Amino acid sequence: MDSVKNDVTTYPAYLAGKWQTSESRETIAITSPWQHDVIGKVQAVTQSEVDQSIKASKKAQHAWASLSLGDRGQYLNQWANELEKDKEAIATSVMTEVGKNYDDAEKEVTRTIDLIRYTVQEALHMHGESVRGDGFPGGSKEKLGIIERVPLGVVLAISPFNYPVNLAASKIAPALMAGNGVIFKPATQGSISGIKMIQALDRTGLPTGLLSLITGHGSVIGDYLTEHPGINMISFTGSTQTGKHLSQKSIMIPLVLELGGKDPAIVCHDANLDLTAKNIVSGAFSYSGQRCTAVKRVLVDDSIADQLVAKLKTAVEKLSVGSPVDDNAIVPLIDNKSADFVQGLIDDALSKGAALITGNRRDKNLLAPTLLDNVTEDMDVAWIEPFGPVLPIIRVHSVAEAIEIANKSNFGLQASVFTQDIDKALEIAGAVEVGTVQVNGRPERGPDNFPFLGVKASGMGTQGVHNSILSMSREKLTVMNLK
Ligand code: G3P
Repeated sequence: MDSVKNDVTTYPAYLAGKWQTSESRETIAITSPWQHDVIGKVQAVTQSEVDQSIKASKKAQHAWASLSLGDRGQYLNQWANELEKDKEAIATSVMTEVGKNYDDAEKEVTRTIDLIRYTVQEALHMHGESVRGDGFPGGSKEKLGIIERVPLGVVLAISPFNYPVNLAASKIAPALMAGNGVIFKPATQGSISGIKMIQALDRTGLPTGLLSLITGHGSVIGDYLTEHPGINMISFTGSTQTGKHLSQKSIMIPLVLELGGKDPAIVCHDANLDLTAKNIVSGAFSYSGQRCTAVKRVLVDDSIADQLVAKLKTAVEKLSVGSPVDDNAIVPLIDNKSADFVQGLIDDALSKGAALITGNRRDKNLLAPTLLDNVTEDMDVAWIEPFGPVLPIIRVHSVAEAIEIANKSNFGLQASVFTQDIDKALEIAGAVEVGTVQVNGRPERGPDNFPFLGVKASGMGTQGVHNSILSMSREKLTVMNLK
């Protein structure tokens, strides 16, 4: 399937059940964010090939939906088994392509295998319900309503670079178990890992054409896919800007959008500072902060701020920095443009009076983890999502002020609250406008049986295995009018 020239592999697209080069005869080079060389090429698929793929998926979907849940589940359990066999190769691909250290990359593949198996079990135990008409005044007992869930048709799954396997499968698996066909559009940086994941799925003998993997230029197939009349639902993870554009382009179909975040860590005066520092550092700097759920600002009570900053400084300066192959904690960002953006936020804050506690060093797209203290609301880094290893510390003088600043953000993904007073934790959790509040823990998606959602500019709809199956299906009511 793959062709190698000058030791660079060109990967086919998976179109209507066949691995093939695009009729465009054009490819897109994928450059490793840490090896800084081309590690492979993927197809620049045409709009006509998109049409053929969607048509094939729609055709195959009817037979797929008529299979029992158990039969569909067998394909997915086999997919999980194939991924298990390929775990090392796929983890290496993730590391090479998106710069995630090997340990995190392998954990991503393991989490994906677990998610697929869990999705099968969840689907097997999601039952319909029945209802009698006499439950409503004047209704008749002779009306028996049978409510089932049916698939939507063809789901467009668009995944981001930072979890090229897990966030793709977290859409594909529930879509398939719900009985849908799938058009999978990976982020360009992450396509090779996505291809390897789908090669494993293809080996299960998945019905031809049910799923297609489409790579290509966003300018050619981006809007074409989201506006396509053959698409019945879109599940997207990526930037808020792209998510907003997509929601304007798509027409009357269900959308689930997982977008950006600016998750605050609210640290109260009575917080356990060792636990707090550990969670903030892990939450802010894992995968160099390239997580939508990363801690992206600290709102700390001024009375304990100096102690917290000292602990954060010590922990941050212990973080290893370098190549992902050596399992470093801080790895190069996905590309230079991202590194420039993060550096711009640091420079802006320092120019406006922020205190540099540690960091602010750069080697190409490898940035040292950076702590900025005394950040004020006039600094961009107080509000803008960096998607990089920079953490602003904003000092507050009351819980009310912390909540006010937290809610001023356009984002509303998650928040962490650190306190040993459960009443205060619940008071803050109730007041902060986000999808999820973590009490005495870092923000994070998962475990994957939990709902995962963002509000405001952080998203629309809910993921997590159960909610994803629901969002990729709909109710169907059959009323028996009994005599
Ligand atoms: O940025 C992707 C988002 O899903 C984060 O996932 O598991 O790192 O919290 P996680």
